[in-house]
Amino acid sequence: MSKKTIESELGSILKQVTARLSKANTLEEVYAVRNEFSGKGSVLQQLLQSLKELSPEDRPLVGAKVNEAKKSIESDIERALLFLANKESIEKDEQRDIDVTAPFHVSNPHVAPFDSIGTPHPLQYEINRMLDIFTSMGFIPFEGRELDTDYYVFDSLNMPKEHPARQNWDTFRTEDNLIPTPHTSNMQVRIMRHLKTAPLRAVIYGRVARNEAADAVHGHTFYQIEGLYIDKGVSVSNMIATINAFVEAFFGRKVVGKIQPGYFPFVEPGIEYMGQCPFCDGVGCVSCKHTGWLELVGAGMIHPNVLREGGFDPKEYSGFAWGLGLDRMVMQRNGIQDIRSLFASDIRFLQSTI
Ligand code: DAH
Repeated sequence: MSKKTIESELGSILKQVTARLSKANTLEEVYAVRNEFSGKGSVLQQLLQSLKELSPEDRPLVGAKVNEAKKSIESDIERALLFLANKESIEKDEQRDIDVTAPFHVSNPHVAPFDSIGTPHPLQYEINRMLDIFTSMGFIPFEGRELDTDYYVFDSLNMPKEHPARQNWDTFRTEDNLIPTPHTSNMQVRIMRHLKTAPLRAVIYGRVARNEAADAVHGHTFYQIEGLYIDKGVSVSNMIATINAFVEAFFGRKVVGKIQPGYFPFVEPGIEYMGQCPFCDGVGCVSCKHTGWLELVGAGMIHPNVLREGGFDPKEYSGFAWGLGLDRMVMQRNGIQDIRSLFASDIRFLQSTI
């Protein structure tokens, strides 16, 4: 065979293989293509044999082309085999009426059922419950971001540079001068600008970090749930009623609440919401450090500067915001003594809480 014939033969083989594989519906059809075009006695093998007839200059060039075609044919065949094998096994399962999404022991009486399929982590479980409570009140959930700029963490929240309150947040800093965010409030202005219109109801959940020594009740990493509500004519009583409704839904019982003044630069007035300890009904116990009260939520009416920063005219709109430490509330609800056990991955602890 001449160089030309071999090359045109090769082109036609490639075309035929592509056409046959694209039409193949069964594994048998692909096996037939494989027998005919690759392996012993195949047309490709014959072409390789005929390389001998070429001149020594042509041989390596044409040989490389034939080898390349061989490789591409083999990999196309392989791919077609895989695809059809997969398809056939799914079809077989369908014919046998197997629900591939069912836990495996449902269809097979000889396999022992799982002892346990695991449980959600207590924090995740409670985040979901809290979000359920707030979404049922019409709040839209957002996830916080863990690394942010000075602007969102402080400036946008009425804490310009050198504001002494910045120190209350014990922030870490990266070498690029970013902040592992110390509170979920960094999302407030971002969300105002994103949603733009009132009534605005948002609930934010996120992980926050502070440069604090860890002990039984302090972690350097913990979770917060934050909320924002903006509309015309929102009042302090709306805020207290909303927080109270949430706290009662969370603890699953009536909770007597009280408020005391609190200072946060992004609200005016600022409050701390205390709930009468649900474990001792205010008598005093370890959970409430014998005070009868649990400090549950920091909140307040959004400061006009923050509303303005988010694009809302404070003459027209008002609103409230709150933030709470999720870990603390999870500990209180589940009688957990040490915050570190939430991260210790001890399976006995994880199974005992939820
Ligand atoms: N960001 C505050 C903290 O980390 C909690 C907080 C207080 C959030 C008052 C608020 C608020 O939105 O209005 O301690």
